[in-house]
Amino acid sequence: MKAVMIEKFGPPDVLKIKEVDQPAHKTDELLVRVKAVSINPLDYKMRNGSLSPLGKLMLPKIVGSDFAGIVKDVGGRVQNFKPGDRVFGSLSPFKSGACAEYVTVKASQVVAIPDELSFEEAATIPIAGLTALQALRDLGKVTKGSKVFINGAAGGVGSFAVQLAKILQAQVTAVCSTPNVRFVQELGADYVVDYKKEDYRSSQEKYDFFFDVVSKASLKDALNILFETGIYTATLPTPQKVFKSFLSRGRVKIIMVKKKPEDLDYLAQLTVKKDLKVVISKTYALEDIQQAHIEIEAGHVRGKLVVEI
Ligand SMILES: NC(=O)c1ccc[n+]([C@@H]2O[C@H](COP(=O)([O-])OP(=O)(O)OC[C@H]3O[C@@H](n4cnc5c(N)ncnc54)[C@H](OP(=O)(O)O)[C@@H]3O)[C@@H](O)[C@H]2O)c1
Repeated sequence: MKAVMIEKFGPPDVLKIKEVDQPAHKTDELLVRVKAVSINPLDYKMRNGSLSPLGKLMLPKIVGSDFAGIVKDVGGRVQNFKPGDRVFGSLSPFKSGACAEYVTVKASQVVAIPDELSFEEAATIPIAGLTALQALRDLGKVTKGSKVFINGAAGGVGSFAVQLAKILQAQVTAVCSTPNVRFVQELGADYVVDYKKEDYRSSQEKYDFFFDVVSKASLKDALNILFETGIYTATLPTPQKVFKSFLSRGRVKIIMVKKKPEDLDYLAQLTVKKDLKVVISKTYALEDIQQAHIEIEAGHVRGKLVVEI
């Protein structure tokens, strides 16, 4: 089968399409023919070695995490899926990746794709959608009337976060650059801060939850615009923020996304009801995977990038 592999860490040109053996599935696993993967910043961080030394042990490896495809075969103990079912999920970046014609995955870790969703749409949901949902609902305790501030609203996590915060009936203030202002408004943001023109640090407003999707805010600046009981959550664990997370009585938190199938299913059902829209800004052919990595690494993707396999 074809797979996108790295044999060493480095720039996008270390990504090579190789012919490798099709993986063998265990008794509790599915063999899935992958049809689409979505690209996350995690993919380029794994590729360029930022996630070493853990990643280093695993080279050579197939890249990619989020996938959607068709079940080709099931292990003897699998009862909830059969060949022909459409499924989606996410593989651990520290194991064999998703950017391949076939993957094996525990049947308990994937979810059926509703008929209304394409493979491409389903593949966008896992890491970005789960991170947004779990940050808002579980860490931020966002409920009706919460005032939510989303720093980095136009990308993968941010575009889900704006919509999910509105579904939770929060009031949303979202930060993005000038070309994305209208896009973020259309996602449902009540107020948009264009960081090219305004500085949120001078705002007199206070918020219940500061979701620092791009993790570019200083803790001091973020806490400054929060109510005394307000919660700050970052996606990237700096030493200072990790330290504070232990001492802040729950006011400072770092999100570590959890691959909960029930959350994946919840997000998929929201898209079926059209309460939640997945935004695919570009779809690449497998041969153009390097270009997809260049684009995600540049840090200004609107919504999600998808690669068809
Ligand atoms: N801890 C976890 O479990 C976890 C899970 C998922 C993701 N993450 C991390 O979370 C981060 C975001 O992930 P993602 O998938 O949303 O990435 P992404 O899709 O690449 O985000 C790109 C977006 O970031 C925005 N952006 C760039 N600079 C900005 C700035 N200074 N202020 C505000 N927005 C800015 C861009 O909007 P403009 O073009 O408008 O600037 C762009 O739309 C990544 O570092 C990722 O690794 C962590």
